Amino acid sequence: MSKKILVTSALPYANGPIHLGHLAGAYLPADIFVRYHRLKGSDVIYICGSDEHGVPIMLRARKEGVSPQKIVDHYHELNKKSFAEFGMTFDYYGRTSSAEHHRTSREFFKDLAEKKVFVINKEKQLYDPEAGIFLADRFVRGTCPSCGYDDAYGDQCEKCGTSLSPKELLNPRSAITNATPVLKESTHWYLPLSRYQKKLEEWIGTHSEWKQNVLGQINSWFTAGLNDRAVTRDLPWGVEIPQEVANTYGVDAKGKVLYVWFDAPIGYISATKEWAETKGRKNLWKEYWQNKETRLVHFIGKDNIVFHCIIFPAMLMAQGDYVLPDNVPSNEFLNLEGNKLSTSRNYAVWLDDYLKKFDPDSLRYVLASNMPESRDTDFSWKEFQARHNNELADILGNFVNRTLTFAQRYFEGRVPKRYDLTDFDKELLHKISEAPEKLGHLIDGYQFKAYIRELMDLVRFANKYFNDKEPWKTRKDDLYSCSTTINLCLQTIHAIAILAEPVLPFSTQKMWQMLGMTGIRRWMDVGRAILKERQEIGTPEILFSKIEDATIEVEIRRLQKALLPQEEPSPENELIDIETFFKTELRVAEIIRAEKIKKSDKLLKLQIRLGSEERQIVAGIAQHYTPEELIGKKVIAVANLKPVKLRGHLSEGMLLAASSDQKLTLLTILDDLPSGSKIS
Ligand code: MF3
Ligand code: ZN
Repeated sequence: MSKKILVTSALPYANGPIHLGHLAGAYLPADIFVRYHRLKGSDVIYICGSDEHGVPIMLRARKEGVSPQKIVDHYHELNKKSFAEFGMTFDYYGRTSSAEHHRTSREFFKDLAEKKVFVINKEKQLYDPEAGIFLADRFVRGTCPSCGYDDAYGDQCEKCGTSLSPKELLNPRSAITNATPVLKESTHWYLPLSRYQKKLEEWIGTHSEWKQNVLGQINSWFTAGLNDRAVTRDLPWGVEIPQEVANTYGVDAKGKVLYVWFDAPIGYISATKEWAETKGRKNLWKEYWQNKETRLVHFIGKDNIVFHCIIFPAMLMAQGDYVLPDNVPSNEFLNLEGNKLSTSRNYAVWLDDYLKKFDPDSLRYVLASNMPESRDTDFSWKEFQARHNNELADILGNFVNRTLTFAQRYFEGRVPKRYDLTDFDKELLHKISEAPEKLGHLIDGYQFKAYIRELMDLVRFANKYFNDKEPWKTRKDDLYSCSTTINLCLQTIHAIAILAEPVLPFSTQKMWQMLGMTGIRRWMDVGRAILKERQEIGTPEILFSKIEDATIEVEIRRLQKALLPQEEPSPENELIDIETFFKTELRVAEIIRAEKIKKSDKLLKLQIRLGSEERQIVAGIAQHYTPEELIGKKVIAVANLKPVKLRGHLSEGMLLAASSDQKLTLLTILDDLPSGSKIS
């Protein structure tokens, strides 16, 4: 039986949408890797999900006055959906608020506690008595003891740069409630990493093939010496510590949860359990996780290296039943138009937003071409446009289109016959036949940029082949050559539709259909002459249409604006929440009578029907509409306004209208609905 492959991508926090940095770092490379292995027929599963715990989620919920669960529910669904639209093919997308996850993490903790892995420490920590929570360092603010700056953070003074501990701040206050923190004693469980350093070093020592950027970070942690790490926190949101475990230490577990970085990676395991459940084979997860032969691969961004290469492996070693990662191909960061991404300033390209305007394959291609594999790289919209237009549209799209159109037009929409091969023909066939091995090797070795480069070299060569063979000429004077050329070009499309599937899943699917293929694609079929002569091909359609300058300018301008100093929100442009919006009751109204109001050139008096009810509305639209033209129109009315008198006439509502400087137009509905219908 072939070796099992278990692939994970870092579980994204469910407190914001996915952006390009995430995709380039931990998701796209994993999906390319997994798709390749599926084409190869490997026994591979791909696991991901939402990371739903941690202080930022809690604070955000507090600020918005909603429960943390509400926040994570929203972003879990949003991210799951945008990932799917982007073509991510997780076998399972779980979430760490699930019952299975809580159970699995608690058991893991209990298991380590029983194996006497933890050390326990009592410590006095700053506590916010108003919020009822212990304060992480950066949530304490106060006066810097060295320079007197009155808004220093608990871990550092921004003004003078001194690093601080929260207890050193003068006049400390909680950044959450402004209350004065008090010192309170608390007990926590620590993972004694120092005891595992030697074992970890030995294990990493067997992995000299890991990426340099990853090994570099790990070694600097080793050189500094590993410190014990608390794996519990005093917080109201997270996986609760089992009281039966706390009892054995004589501690009250109430208000204590697992540290988010302790439970989140266990999320990979719990999600695999849930996946196995969906397969109706409850224990199937063990065949992956508790099997020393499994090739476990964690795809992450560089800020996650220590957790995946040191802390989680130490947890797995301490437990003992689990396989350790075979590789952790971490990527560096992706910058945006020459600047660092900043989610708080909205200086980012959000996936859900991108997908409303462009195709997933274009972004997959551009990010893969420019992936931050060994150093930070930059995404720019101009480059996005150039690669889409010059590479996807002009090279790949053009090659596919001209070949298929030619076959449609001159070979009755069928694969023409292959005759004697010239050296040039053989060269093309040779390139195709060596591609699967070559490209596969690159993907399997996490060299995604090189894979794209090789792939595009093949496409470029094919395009040149078409040009140089001049089938539009040979059609007239050497039909054998023409027929062979188009046969080989179709065969090349067949190869590309497989070889490019990992990066361009949507467009290659179209190519496959255009070839008239119906079966599944397999990596091993590349280069085999399985395109049968006389096989009917489908209708060619444009694969990539050009992206215009104007489209790109909008995106660039939006980012430039995000870089400008931010305006203080004034009461006028403050955002409202959905509840506030829904206080306005909007309904479809039918105008049944209309008349001018004497001595007013602006006002019309209207009788409207709202379902079974009739009302009078006085509207300032006389300069834009005559009474006659309004009768019978369906418009939009605000139905819950306090009645007022205008020029002595009662007005029980208001009509919605859009206006520019000179023009005004009443809002109406696209399709007919009965009057009184609710609008939301
Ligand atoms: N949520 C973390 C982040 O976005 C990643 C968690 S990865 C896991 O940085 F392994 F802990 F799940
Ligand atoms: Zn200072």
